[in-house]
Amino acid sequence: MGRKISPEEQSWCLDKVTGKVVISKGLENICIDKSTICYIDGFHSKLYYRGYSIEDLAKNSTYEETVYLILYGKLPTRRELNDFSGWMREERDIPREVIELLAKIPRDIEPMEMLRTAVSYLGNLDPGRHDMSLEGVIRKTIRLISKMPTIIAYWYRIRDGKEIVCPDPRLNHAENFLYMMHGGKPEQILARAMDVSFILYAEHEMNASAFTAVVIASTLSDYYSAIVGAIGALRGPLHGYANVEAMKQFDEIGSPENVDKWYREYILTGRKRVMGAGHRVYKTYDPRAKIFREYAREFAERYGGKVKTYYQIADRLEEYVMKQLCETRNICTNCDFWSGIVYYAMGIPVDLYCAVFAAARTVGWSAHVIEYVTENRILRPRLYYDGEIDREYIPIENR
Ligand code: CMC
Repeated sequence: MGRKISPEEQSWCLDKVTGKVVISKGLENICIDKSTICYIDGFHSKLYYRGYSIEDLAKNSTYEETVYLILYGKLPTRRELNDFSGWMREERDIPREVIELLAKIPRDIEPMEMLRTAVSYLGNLDPGRHDMSLEGVIRKTIRLISKMPTIIAYWYRIRDGKEIVCPDPRLNHAENFLYMMHGGKPEQILARAMDVSFILYAEHEMNASAFTAVVIASTLSDYYSAIVGAIGALRGPLHGYANVEAMKQFDEIGSPENVDKWYREYILTGRKRVMGAGHRVYKTYDPRAKIFREYAREFAERYGGKVKTYYQIADRLEEYVMKQLCETRNICTNCDFWSGIVYYAMGIPVDLYCAVFAAARTVGWSAHVIEYVTENRILRPRLYYDGEIDREYIPIENR
């Protein structure tokens, strides 16, 4: 027989006032550092990047400008923005070796698994991959955020047996992504919605994927490892993949008339969660959801068909969530509930939505890596040991 370790012997787990063991499951409300990148006011539906509200940025900014803001902490002058956008445009092409790799990746794998592999390989080919200086990380960030849409679009076309469409340097980041996906210049309203979606997904404080990136970087590992790890964290359905799961859920519901039955059968019985609802920080409506929702409504009216059906199902389901989960338990719909319908209207296949999210979020991950590593301390939490010690080792023949 071994013996249990008492709480007193694990003093680091005890609350200094009550003397009781404190376990922060899920690290809820634990601040790991100071930051000037992002502020979420989850009680008043507010989100700010570097102090600018998400509503102002979605209305007035572009993804390129928002990337500059997140990385450098200030809005660029016109000249700075032109130079910066030019830099991003120059970085869009991906090496031939990565295109060859994309052709070899099994076509039936999840796009996030493809992205993880491609980003990792891109890192192998970057001569400055170990340079963790500020300039080195910013250079790699621009390289990666410019190339990720190309990787996604090329992968989509390769797996569909289509010719790849090379980036067009005359187009902005969002227009160019849709152009590489579909092979034609997108409608302006769709390009603007894509641009806004990149802004909305660019950053979101110390969420699971940003934390993963920072944990990896805090060991003084390399930039690409941090981003590949973050891609892995984002891919889970409780995090970024919720935008794919939300669309699958709308498919399962099938029609607006079936929402009531589905909700009773699965949500009221606790057999499923509403995908695209609930948030660790927002206890009111996610401000990004409001903006995505408005685009989804506009596109439902404009394009009709399946976009409209998705919108109607989502609209009806949201009524249930807001009445039954939000009012009573603060579980409200979030951005991933609505973003998929916007991407669907753009003709993007559902399984790619989390990868599009990752392409945008790479800037946030990078900013957190830069900020944390500037005054680095390795991230190393503890566990409360609830097992036994000093157990007698019994040789295998006597067990
Ligand atoms: N539908 C139904 N019930 C829910 C939901 C939901 N979407 N979310 C949370 N709950 C319930 C949960 O069952 C639990 O109930 P109980 O106390 O009776 O056991 C309670 O609310 C607390 O849940 P939790 O899992 O402890 O909450 P959390 O803060 O750890 O999780 C979350 C947050 C986002 C993982 C969770 O709300 C969830 O699973 N949502 C669905 C997936 C989703 O939409 N994720 C995207 C999040 S937003 C974008 C991003 O950050 O990536």
